[in-house]
Amino acid sequence: MVDITGLRNPYDYANPVRTVEYFAGRGSQLATIDYVLKQAGTTRPVGYLALYGRRAAGKTSLLNMTEKLAAERGYLVARANLVPANADPASFFATVYEELIGAVAGVCELTSPDGRKITPRVVRRIIEGGPVDGDFPLEFPENLAHAITGGQLSEMALRNDLRHLMELVGRPIVLLVDEAQMIADRPDVLSLLRTLGMRLEGYVLVLAGTPELVARINEVFDFLLRQFEFVRVERFSEAADVVQCMARPLEAVGLDPSRCFGRPVEDVASDLMPLTDGNPYEIQLFCHVMFARWQTDGAATMVLTAQAVDDVRATLDVGNEHVDRPLVKAVRQMSDEALLALNIWCSALEQATVDEIRFASRVSGAIALDADQLDRHLDGFVRDGLIELVNNTVRLIGDAAEHIWVRLSTVQRLGPRASILLSSVNFRYLLASQLWRLLDHHVLGGDRWLLRTCCLAMRSELLDQGVLDLRELPADREISYTVEYLHEAILESAMPQALHLTSVECSYGETTATRWICRGAADDFDLDADPAFRAAQERIAGLGGVLRAERSTIPLKPMAEIVEWLVERFDYPEKRPHMAHRHVSAALDAYEVGDIVATFSHLDTAFRLFPYWGPANNLAYLNLVAGDYSAARDWVRRAVPLSKAADQRALSRYNGGVAAALEGDWDGARALLADAAADLEHRSPLEEDTGVTHLMIPAFEDRVVVHEVRDPDLADAIARARDVVELAERFERLRGSA
Ligand SMILES: Nc1ncnc2c1ncn2[C@@H]1O[C@H](COP(=O)(O)OP(=O)(O)O)[C@@H](O)[C@H]1O
Ligand SMILES: [Mg+2]
Repeated sequence: MVDITGLRNPYDYANPVRTVEYFAGRGSQLATIDYVLKQAGTTRPVGYLALYGRRAAGKTSLLNMTEKLAAERGYLVARANLVPANADPASFFATVYEELIGAVAGVCELTSPDGRKITPRVVRRIIEGGPVDGDFPLEFPENLAHAITGGQLSEMALRNDLRHLMELVGRPIVLLVDEAQMIADRPDVLSLLRTLGMRLEGYVLVLAGTPELVARINEVFDFLLRQFEFVRVERFSEAADVVQCMARPLEAVGLDPSRCFGRPVEDVASDLMPLTDGNPYEIQLFCHVMFARWQTDGAATMVLTAQAVDDVRATLDVGNEHVDRPLVKAVRQMSDEALLALNIWCSALEQATVDEIRFASRVSGAIALDADQLDRHLDGFVRDGLIELVNNTVRLIGDAAEHIWVRLSTVQRLGPRASILLSSVNFRYLLASQLWRLLDHHVLGGDRWLLRTCCLAMRSELLDQGVLDLRELPADREISYTVEYLHEAILESAMPQALHLTSVECSYGETTATRWICRGAADDFDLDADPAFRAAQERIAGLGGVLRAERSTIPLKPMAEIVEWLVERFDYPEKRPHMAHRHVSAALDAYEVGDIVATFSHLDTAFRLFPYWGPANNLAYLNLVAGDYSAARDWVRRAVPLSKAADQRALSRYNGGVAAALEGDWDGARALLADAAADLEHRSPLEEDTGVTHLMIPAFEDRVVVHEVRDPDLADAIARARDVVELAERFERLRGSA
C-alpha cells in the first residue's frame, strides 16, 4: 500500500492555482491568450483581453497562467488586484500605475535627473500631495494628486508616462487587473482605457472579472470591440479536464494517480462530474476531502463514499443553524419529492427555459413526477421566494456554497433517485445527459455500448469528420481527434470488417442532442426494433419532441493499414497513450484465449503508438514465452529505462534475468537478478505493487527450463531464479571438469 502519511494534501480549493503543474484544462483559452500576447510588440497597438466567469470559476488561476505566458515571452508584467475602493477612477489608475512603477523599477534604472531612484513609494508621496521637482520625469503622479482632490484625470499625462516606461524597459508590458468587475460600473474608467489604447503602443491589458464586466465593455468599446478578445471561464465540460484537475496535483507530489483512486481515474471523474457540476473549485474540494480521508481515516485509496460527500458538505460551513439562510432552511424541511422537483427546476440555472427543463426531465423516463406535479412545485418555489423566473429561466436564491450544499444534500437523501441535480449546464448539455441516461440505463441496460465522447454534448460534425478520416485514412490533412473514440469501438467489437454507427438524436425546439452506439456490423444491432426504444420515442413525441435513430455503416480498411496510419498520422500526444492502453488490454484478452499472434500484434501497436513501459515489458515476457530469448532481452533493455517505479524495473530485470539464464549467460543472469532484487528493496514508500499477473518461473532439470505461473510473488520468484542460476552454473562447471 502507498504510504502517504507524510505528504501534504496537494489539493487546494482555497487558493487560485499558481503553477503550471497544478493547472488543468483551459487549452483553448490559453491558446487565445497566447495568441493575443504573441501579437504584442513595442510598436504594435494595445491588445485587450477580458477573462470572465462566475465566482470560483477559475479566472484568477487563468490570470496566473497568463502572467507566466507573458513572462515566457520576455514581457514585463505588472499586476493589480482591485478591491471595492478602487472603483473610483483616480484610485483605479493610481493602483495600476503604482504597480507598474514597481515592476519597471524592478528591472531597470528608474531615476530622476538628480540620480534619485523612483520607487512606488516616491510616486505615492506625490499622489498624496507631496512636492514635485520641476524636472521629475513622470507627469501622471502629479495629475493623480490633482484628480484625487476633484480635478480631471489627464489621459495625455498617463499616456506619456506609459510610453516613457515602455521605452525604458524596451519590451512589451502586460498589465493584469484582477477583480476588474469593480470598474464595471464606471464607464469613465473604461472609456479612458479605450482612448488610451487608441494612441499607445506596446501594451497588453488583461482584465479578469465576473460577467457584468463584459456587458459594460460592450457598451463602452462599441465599434472598437474588435480589439477586445473575450475569454470565457466556466465549468469544465470535457471529461479530460476533470481528470487533469484530479490527477495533476497528485503527480506534482510524486504520486501516480492510477494508483491513488480505487478505480480508473476516468470512472471517478465521471462520477464527480454531476456531483461537482464540473466546477474546478468543487472538484478540488472533493479531492481534498478524499485525500484527507485516505491520509487520516484509514481509507485504502481516494474513494467517493457517502462519508466523503458528508465531509465536503461540512466543509462548506453553510449548515450552521444560527445563520439566516432561507434556502438551506427550506431544503431541510422539504419532502423528498419537493427536493427532487427543486433539483429538476434548477438543473440548468439561468440557462434553459421552464419548457425546456420540463421536457428534459421527462426524456429518460426515470423521473416519477409528472408534468403537473412538477409545475405545482415550481409555483410553490416561486411563491416561497426560493426561485425567481427571469426571462422564463430559473434563478435560485442563495450563494454558490449554498447551491453546492443543496446538490449534495440531495445526493445524500435521494441516492440514485436523484437522477437530475442542480447545475448550470446549458439546455443542449442537459438534454444530452438525459438522453445518455435513457440509452444507458433504460434501453441498453448498462452495457458499455455507447461511444465515448470528449464531452457529453459533443457535436455530431466532429464525429462525422472522424468517420470520414477513418474511411479514407488521409495522409494530407489534419485528422479529427474523434478517431480515438472510433478506434476504441473497433477494438471493443474485436476488429470487425465494418462498424455500424447508430446516431440517436433527441430534439426539442431548435436544440438537438446526439449520442452514438457503435457495434461491429456482424452484430446487426437495430435500435428501431427495440421495444424500450420505441416506447421512449412515443413518450417523447407526446411531449412535443423527437427521438430518432439512424444507422450507418462504416466500412473498415484492414486493421494493419489502420494501425499504420494511426501510428504515422494521429497527432494528439495526449490521446495516443489511451489508444496504446487499449491495445495492451486487447493483447491481454488475446493472450487469455491463446492467440499469440494477435497478442504480439497488439503489443507492437501499443508500443508504436506510445512507447511506455507496459507494452515493452509485456513484449519481453511474450518473447520469453515464445522462446526468443535474445528478443526478450532486447525488450528488457528498452523497458527498464521506461519504467516509472522500482517494482516495474524489478519485473523487467527479472524477465531479462530469466532470458539470460535460458541462454546460458550466467553472468548476465546473475547481474540482472541481483539488480531486480535490489530494485524491490529500494522501493519508495509512495509505491504500491504493480501487481504481477504472470511470470515465467525457472527450474533446473539438467538444464534451465521455465513454466508459467499465475499471480506469483515477484520477490520469491527472484530468489528462486537466483538459486537456479547458481545451480545451473555449478552443474555446468562440474560437467566441464568431468
Ligand atoms: N485550471 C484549473 N485547474 C485546477 N484547479 C482550478 C483551475 N481553475 C480553478 N481551479 C480551482 O478552483 C478554485 C477557484 O479558482 P479561482 O481561480 O480562484 O477562481 P475565480 O478567480 O474565478 O474566483 C481554485 O482554488 C482552484 O482550486
Ligand atoms: Mg479570483
